[in-house]
Amino acid sequence: MLAAYAVSQSADDPLSGLEVGERPDPEPRDGWVVVDLKTCALNHHDVWSLRGVGLPADRLPMVLGCDGAGVDPDGNEVLVHAVVPSDGWQGDETLDPRRTLLSELHDGTLATKVAVPRANLVPKPAELSWEQAACLPTAWLTAYRMLFTNAGVQPGGTVLVHGAAGGVATALVQLGSAAGLRVWVTSRDEAKGEQAVALGADRAFGSGERLPERVDAVMETVGAATWSHSVNSLRPGGTIVISGATSGDAPAKAELTKIFFKQLRVVGSTMGTRDELQRLASFVVASGIEPLVDSVVPLANAREGFARMVEGQVTGKVVFTT
Ligand SMILES: NC(=O)c1ccc[n+]([C@@H]2O[C@H](COP(=O)([O-])OP(=O)(O)OC[C@H]3O[C@@H](n4cnc5c(N)ncnc54)[C@H](OP(=O)(O)O)[C@@H]3O)[C@@H](O)[C@H]2O)c1
Repeated sequence: MLAAYAVSQSADDPLSGLEVGERPDPEPRDGWVVVDLKTCALNHHDVWSLRGVGLPADRLPMVLGCDGAGVDPDGNEVLVHAVVPSDGWQGDETLDPRRTLLSELHDGTLATKVAVPRANLVPKPAELSWEQAACLPTAWLTAYRMLFTNAGVQPGGTVLVHGAAGGVATALVQLGSAAGLRVWVTSRDEAKGEQAVALGADRAFGSGERLPERVDAVMETVGAATWSHSVNSLRPGGTIVISGATSGDAPAKAELTKIFFKQLRVVGSTMGTRDELQRLASFVVASGIEPLVDSVVPLANAREGFARMVEGQVTGKVVFTT
């Protein structure tokens, strides 16, 4: 099968370890099925894997990718849920200490086929195009859990989203505004901030800019570069939900005093459950959201999409077609 896979890792030159070419077809284990993928999508996770973060070198070569949509062996159109629990795990799979994401232990979705546990299949709503469907399982699921499970905000509340143009960030803007939240964004780039406003954000600010009032929750994926701004932007008792640290995970100031003095909550968030993915898909359809797609590229040209992400040019999701 055709696949985009990691053969080596480099912190400074992630594209040097990326190959796009033939890999053996997947062989399903007991309780697993092979999905013929129609579309798959890129996440920063795939760049981290090529940089050597989260993917041990002794597991290479590894097919990359956590996002995919396709057809199961019974002919059903499905989304692929990327969180794989350990054998016998019961309950919220994101809390399984031995869970992995596709492409961490088992080959991922940037391919024409992927093997997954049968329980990881979610029906694809007919209303979603294949390109839109591939956006949901990772960045969009993460955004859904951040906003609706972990932020503790209600319609009418205000949330701040950093790094306006990213995959998770655009999902936060589209989901939050559809749910009646006032969404403010920051970006390093004024044009990207304006795009977020066109997408449903109420206002856009520059990175680090003082806000006109404090917010109920901050959605943090940028990390070190925005951490102080996150802490300073919250009202007392507010919540930072953190699911990523694109700019690094060691901020110059940890802001511990402000965190306890303002009685802030800091909540870690990773991916979501299969049930949350199913509810996300229903919400996207019911509210008429069209996930923002940056570009659609044939899988054979996957390197182009990776380069756009490494260079920080992406607005929304990069989708690959098989
Ligand atoms: N925990 C989880 O389950 C989970 C799931 C998905 C993603 N993540 C993590 O969340 C992060 C975002 O993922 P993604 O797929 O959305 O990535 P992405 O599409 O590449 O977006 C990253 C965004 O971060 C902003 N950014 C990058 N460097 C920055 C800096 N130095 N200062 C300020 N802003 C910066 C950029 O926004 P502007 O250009 O607008 O400033 C960029 O659009 C990644 O670190 C990823 O690993 C975690």
